[in-house]
Amino acid sequence: PLTAKTNSNDRLEVGGCDVVELVRQYGSPLYILDEVSLRTACQQYRDAFAQHYQGASQVLYASKAWSCMAVCAIVNNEGLGIDVVSAGEILTAMRAGTPSDLIYFHGNNKSLDELRYALDAGCTIVVDNWYELNNLNQLALEQTSNPRIMLRLTPGIECHTHEYIQTGHIDSKFGFDPNEIEAVFAFVSQSLLNCVGIHAHIGSQIFELQPHQDIGGVMVQWFKLAGEKYNLKFSELNIGGGLGIRYVESDDPPSIEAWVQTVCQGVTEAFVKAGLPLPKLLCEPGRSLVGSSCITAYRVGGSKTVPDIRTYITVDGGMSDNPRPITYQSKYRAAIADRMSADLTQTVTIAGKHCESGDVLIKDIQLPETHPGDTLVVFATGAYNYSMASNYNRLPKPAAIVVRNGESSLIIKRETREDLLRHDCLPEGLRK
Ligand code: LLP
Repeated sequence: PLTAKTNSNDRLEVGGCDVVELVRQYGSPLYILDEVSLRTACQQYRDAFAQHYQGASQVLYASKAWSCMAVCAIVNNEGLGIDVVSAGEILTAMRAGTPSDLIYFHGNNKSLDELRYALDAGCTIVVDNWYELNNLNQLALEQTSNPRIMLRLTPGIECHTHEYIQTGHIDSKFGFDPNEIEAVFAFVSQSLLNCVGIHAHIGSQIFELQPHQDIGGVMVQWFKLAGEKYNLKFSELNIGGGLGIRYVESDDPPSIEAWVQTVCQGVTEAFVKAGLPLPKLLCEPGRSLVGSSCITAYRVGGSKTVPDIRTYITVDGGMSDNPRPITYQSKYRAAIADRMSADLTQTVTIAGKHCESGDVLIKDIQLPETHPGDTLVVFATGAYNYSMASNYNRLPKPAAIVVRNGESSLIIKRETREDLLRHDCLPEGLRK
């Protein structure tokens, strides 16, 4: 949870820093990452595995949630590896100092160039499909050591979350279909590939524990089959990420500890029953590590009241820095950082500044009276905000800072107007 409090000026303080002052210093919008909160979440995962699992384990941070060097460096410093889905995310993890044996490369359409890059770096490849398997086997001929891979299988486990972020059901674009698993095992057993295990990911922002309780039972059959029939000695089982977080009061996700305990219990029971040694257990949370550890601060602009219907208050960002409300109808909580204990006297809708009616960050939220220039903060914006940010309407991407013990440091510079033109070219004939 965020290390936040209301200070003696009645302002919001995060990581010991006054948020209104931070916005004065760094400008707005501003992503503010609470380092202690992120480290605590990493420790909770690690400690829970140590307590509830007898075998080896490794937590990987799903860096798609927020890939930048500082976040990768913090989680790696806490002993986590990194799950990546592109050469860009590999580069980010490596420049942050992550050893390549802790980098696992995902994705359903990795290019040859990306595969080469990842193999040269020494990453483990989580193979998604036949096309990739064939490509890798070809590339293996160029390599001095056998590529280290895992196989992503579609477990056929459903969960209740937004349709766009379900991935474990059979009709998913990710992973090998259960029907082709034997053929895949047969191929791999004859190949140059060093296959160390299997992977499944069910979905994201999941509040139920049952799907993750069941995953061990589904995966163990394939582990067994691989060993007994194809002589593939798997040692690693990766059960993906997916634990949800609280965005609004009514959200009630299980704790990190409860989730890990459930996973460990399910896997342990399944492997013991099948008479197999416990695998090295990997998981790859993104949202539950970084999501609640960050807030976005905006400056309030004007407002508009549509009589008897609603009052809009506008902020200086919107769907470009947080595309989740418009994409998934996600809900968020907000506050006015300048007056934390003021009475909540109005119901307002917080609108972004983009040229789209749908660019609304929060609908119908209770806030105190607001004035232009106030600092409005939206909570739990660490996951899938910066990483999904765009330059829509040519807005520069915001800066991000990390706060800890009353100190703040820049982790991502604010884009400038000139940055926006960095890749524009004006052909000769169009120049004035
Ligand atoms: N592993 C794999 C293979 C994944 O595809 C994902 C998320 C994760 C791990 C991490 O899942 P998490 O622990 O963060 O739930 N943009 C969407 C979420 C997309 C999730 C994609 N994959 C959102 O903003 O809700």
